[in-house]
Amino acid sequence: MGRKSDHHQPAVLLLLLELLLAIPSTSAKAGVELSSSVILFYDSELATPMYGSAVPQCELLLRRAVRHGGKRIQLVPTHYWYDKRYESQDQNACLPDNWADTDLRVDYYCSKWAWDAPCKPFTKKSIASFRDAMRKCLSLAVQLYEEVLIAPHLDLVAGSSKRGKWRNMLRFDPLQKDRHGNSYWEIMLQPLLQAANDAFNSSKGKTLHFAMGGEMGGTLLNHPAQYLKIFNATRAAWKAPARLQLGVTFYHAYTPGQINHQPDPKGVKPLPDSPLGTLDGGYGPLLPYDKWPGVAQLRAVLPDFKRLLQEAQFIGVSNYARAPADVQPSHMEGSTAKLLAEFAAMGVDTQQLLSSGKQLIWNEFGLGGGIGSCNDVPGIDARIGLFPWLGITGSYEQKIDPFKQSLAAKEYLKKYYAAALQLLAAGGGGYPVHGAYMWNVASWDVQGIHTSAAVWNTSVVQADWPVRKGFAVADVAGMIQAHNTRFRH
Ligand SMILES: *[C@@H]1O[C@H](CO)[C@@H](O)[C@H](O)[C@H]1NC(C)=O
Ligand SMILES: *[C@@H]1O[C@H](CO)[C@@H](O)[C@H](O)[C@H]1NC(C)=O
Ligand SMILES: *[C@@H]1O[C@H](CO)[C@@H](O)[C@H](O)[C@H]1NC(C)=O
Repeated sequence: MGRKSDHHQPAVLLLLLELLLAIPSTSAKAGVELSSSVILFYDSELATPMYGSAVPQCELLLRRAVRHGGKRIQLVPTHYWYDKRYESQDQNACLPDNWADTDLRVDYYCSKWAWDAPCKPFTKKSIASFRDAMRKCLSLAVQLYEEVLIAPHLDLVAGSSKRGKWRNMLRFDPLQKDRHGNSYWEIMLQPLLQAANDAFNSSKGKTLHFAMGGEMGGTLLNHPAQYLKIFNATRAAWKAPARLQLGVTFYHAYTPGQINHQPDPKGVKPLPDSPLGTLDGGYGPLLPYDKWPGVAQLRAVLPDFKRLLQEAQFIGVSNYARAPADVQPSHMEGSTAKLLAEFAAMGVDTQQLLSSGKQLIWNEFGLGGGIGSCNDVPGIDARIGLFPWLGITGSYEQKIDPFKQSLAAKEYLKKYYAAALQLLAAGGGGYPVHGAYMWNVASWDVQGIHTSAAVWNTSVVQADWPVRKGFAVADVAGMIQAHNTRFRH
């Protein structure tokens, strides 16, 4: 696919259209680019060229992403947690309600060198290797971009790959050591901080946004005092001349890592039918605070959580916003509204929070085009707007690609992005938006940045393996690029 020529014309046309329409700026709110994400699952991806590629995956993705016009990038490094109870779970099974399991615990943390490598518990040496490889990956990010957001992930190592147990529900203490003597701070946040300190060491004027995790509310709401300590330790250790901003990110529901909503009263649910389907996405009524599971623990640490929100310089939400067929910019604010409703139920003064100068970001944004809980049912119409967090994760074939199979799905995708870009152009609507990052993997990756679930032309050994077939949607990538050309700051 000739990416450049594909994108050029729609991009120019759109730019002209947007200039003609001359969307007025309504207030002091500034337009915001739609940035990309470099999503990393395995240690080899950070700094080692693999599978015949001339450059490491991190470099490949950073260089691909920069062509889409943004000055900001998100990096999502992944480590894993091991829980013996799920060791024998069939990796190919569709377990649609897996996400709702709140009975999760860390036996130990581990990391994988590659997709088919065992997950090894951390040692001093492997933590140092992770730090050194991240330093290389981050150094290039700092060269290519003005701002870098790091939002690390923990995934369950074993279990269904189609719908996994969910890190949001893991209510772990980030300073507690696992049975190999390692805490989340030691295996993840501290090495990332050290790597960033070096990578930003001569980057005055640039900014690091450092999130304590991506979509990991359970740990934040249940152990906020530990994160206050981590904030302090992180600020104290920051030596680079670049600006450091510390933040916390959330899914748009279930922030305590507990099921705190009732089922969707309209019965909206993805396929296949499952007992908890109407809870997926948290669109049913929010329970009153005193009915939230685990509220005694939450209440005991609530003052610390309020303090953590105060101290955070940015708050992120995974913005997979449910929208109807006639999608409007206002629908893109649904996730922020839901997040703030959960905060308000806890007694957080959300008005004060919004007026405190804090940044609000969409640390994940996308529309996957799926209507199946196990990320294997492509939608064929506007119903894909009901489940933007669901997509297609299988290896690429045109027949599983919602946006190639169904013109209606592709048209809806374009309308959905147009609505989001309109809101970002205005810097938000009812709520401000200060940053927005795409979820660039599998069918959410309309920019075609990630290599998974695409077919690459491996006979071309260069920095950028050209894609032969994949989920990229050139029209939408062009819209985003035109938008970014106007709004990158
Ligand atoms: C920044 O860190 C890199 C990598 O560790 C090192 O090579 C370089 O000398 C450092 N630069 C400054 C200004 O400290
Ligand atoms: C963080 O540092 C501030 C200022 O030094 C101090 O007042 C506060 O008690 C510290 N918080 C924690 C949790 O250590
Ligand atoms: C792969 O790239 C080479 C070199 O550009 C080209 O000749 C070949 O046709 C491509 N193969 C496919 C299947 O696209």
